[in-house]
This record gives sequence, C-alpha cells and structure tokens, in this order.
Amino acid sequence: MRNEGIVELYAPRRTLIGRDGITKIPHFLQRLSSKCVLVVTDKGLIKVGTAGKVTAVLDNANIQYVVYDGVEPNPTTRIVYDALHFYQEHQCDAIIAIGGGSPIDVAKAVSILSANGGKIQDYNGYNKSKKRGTPIIAVNTTAGTGSECTRAYVVTDEETKTKMLMVDTNCLAHLALNDPMLMVGMPPSLTAATGIDALTHAIEAYICNTHTPYTDALSLEAVRLVSGSLRDAVRDGSNMDARTNMCWAEYMAGLAFSNAGLGLVHGIAHQLGGFYNIPHGLANAILLPRVLEYNRPYCMGRLATVAQAMGEKCDNLSVDQASKKAIEAVRRLCDDVKIPKLCDTKFRMEDIDVLAEHALEDTATQTNIVRPTLDDVKTILAKTYYEGIVLKTVQK
Ligand SMILES: [Fe+2]
Repeated sequence: MRNEGIVELYAPRRTLIGRDGITKIPHFLQRLSSKCVLVVTDKGLIKVGTAGKVTAVLDNANIQYVVYDGVEPNPTTRIVYDALHFYQEHQCDAIIAIGGGSPIDVAKAVSILSANGGKIQDYNGYNKSKKRGTPIIAVNTTAGTGSECTRAYVVTDEETKTKMLMVDTNCLAHLALNDPMLMVGMPPSLTAATGIDALTHAIEAYICNTHTPYTDALSLEAVRLVSGSLRDAVRDGSNMDARTNMCWAEYMAGLAFSNAGLGLVHGIAHQLGGFYNIPHGLANAILLPRVLEYNRPYCMGRLATVAQAMGEKCDNLSVDQASKKAIEAVRRLCDDVKIPKLCDTKFRMEDIDVLAEHALEDTATQTNIVRPTLDDVKTILAKTYYEGIVLKTVQK
C-alpha cells in the first residue's frame, strides 16, 4: 500500500554534504545577520574535540556564540528548559546544534519554544506551533539519526517517563550539514549503531503504509549505500569514502522517513530509550531483524527488493525466498558490525506489558505495514531477548 493522497514534501531549507562543509557556516550566519548564536552540544563532543572544530570556525570568523553542553542521550524536558534558559539569558538569535540526534532534538525544541513560548508539552503531536522556529544550523556528527533533515524531535517527559514525539514543519533546519571529517573520530560501536539506525529508517520508510515514489528512491539508495559502506566505516573510521557514503545514506534515509513514516522497530525502540535510556540507534539495531520477520508476510515483494539493494543474489529465487534473504542480510550486517543483544542491555522481561502497551500507541507504529496486537509486540520483545540468551549459552 502506498500513499495515494496529495503529498506534501519536507526538506531542510539548505543542505551541505561533503568534506570541510563546516567552513561554510559563517557565510550562512552572516546571511541571517545573527548577533549571538547558541551552540547546543554534549560534553562528550566537547571532550573529543568535535564541537571544538566547529567553534574554531566561528572564532576565526569573529562570530559571537555561547555553548550549552548539557545535552544527554534521550533528552528530557529539564534539559530542554536548561538550554532555553541559556538561549534567553544570552539573547541569542540563532542556534547551531552539534551532535547526533539528541543535541539536534534539543535545538529543535529550543527553536520552537523561543519563537512560540509555552511548554514543550504544548507541541506534542503534529504541527502544533504557529510561528517558524529560530533558525537552526544542524551539524550532524553521526551518520544515522537523520535528525538534521527531519521535522521531528523527541523529548522524554520526566514525570511520565514517556517519549513525546513532536512533528513540526516550523523546526526544519535552516541549514543541514553533514561533514564526514566530523565523523572520523566516532568509535566503532557508535558508527555501527547509528549506521543501522539509518538502515532502519530506510527500510521502515520503504515498507511502511505511507511510502511514495519519492521516498522509495531515497530508501533504496540509502539501503545500498549502508550495505556497501558501513562495515568499512566501522573497521576503519578514517576511511573517507565510507564516511562520505554513510553521510549520503543517512541524509537520504532521513528524508525518506521524514516524508513517509516509520514502523514498529521505532515504535518499540522509543520505549527502550524512554525506560532504560538505551541509545536510540542501538535499540533499533537490536530490534530490526526480529521486527522484519514479523512484518515479512505483509511486504514480501518490497523486502525482496531490499535484498537486491543489499547486494543479495535473488535472480532464481521466489519472492518468498528473496524476502528472507533481506532479513538474513540485515542479521549478517548487524553481526559483522558487532551489534549487542537485548539481554546485554538494561531491558527486563517484567516490564514487557507496559513497554508493549506504549509501543502500540507510539506514532511510529501507526505507519507500520500491519497493525500489531499487544501480544505481537510482547512476542517480538520476548523472542529478541531469549534469542540473545540462547546464543550466549551456545557460545560458552
Ligand atoms: Fe531512528
């Protein structure tokens, strides 16, 4: 099934992809006539010097800025208000987000709140803000989240421990920037998890019930690029060809899911993030093969095409056989880049009921190719958990 209605397409206002792209940031800030920029990032990116590469560009161009580095994975309402307070205190008029999904999500929240006022809960849902947000330059440092090119952001409500998904055209970045030089120092485990997150975006957008010809093209090329380059990027982080391919893959996959939708992998992964603070990319990577097995009967033809995009030889196979090849290829890729198992995380089987209930309500689940039941989600979680335990027992 595809989206047959009138389709509105979304993209950042401008995009830069390529080596040393960050050197172009002053040009964009000057065009905005910015007086003071809020840089939103996290302490890890300060420590490894990634944020410093961007602020050095600002220093060289005599651009005034202040740095908020309090962002943590799965950002909460408290972090959003801390960053907003910093923005207001220093009378900023533009935002540079440096990071993966979390700093960019916080930047989007500050962008909307600084322009519209109110509480972040007021914007939970679709297009709840009235005014265009404060301009964001979204500098991506991981090749996975796609957050720099989407109109979505996620904030965890600390009181309810649930993730709020805001989908808002007013938070689209003024400039989305993917510079592979910023990704050179990313550790292999993060490269792997965020890379599989990009693959998940591409596959979920391709098999969801609201895909379009536009998102199909983006998805399949992203699948091809991840399959061909992620292993190399994990093995040798300084491989610029692999890093650049992953920049393209993650951006195209981001555009695909931003304009189509996601599915049950993200619907469950959002709960694992909210409950246990499991990093988003890792949660998706752990769940992807098992959810694809669940979805396969409803999208065999599409998964057969995914198998071909992943380089599988399917010429003499039935659609049924080829669709299984796609899942085998995903499992192989996850194993090759050393994705851990669910039993290696803080997940606890006793939480399975509440996790499944929340997953069913998650916005991402609404566009899954088939509507799952509570038992379906519980079975997926249980199988994912126990298959890891069995594997470890066998390996001992
Ligand atoms: Fe994702």
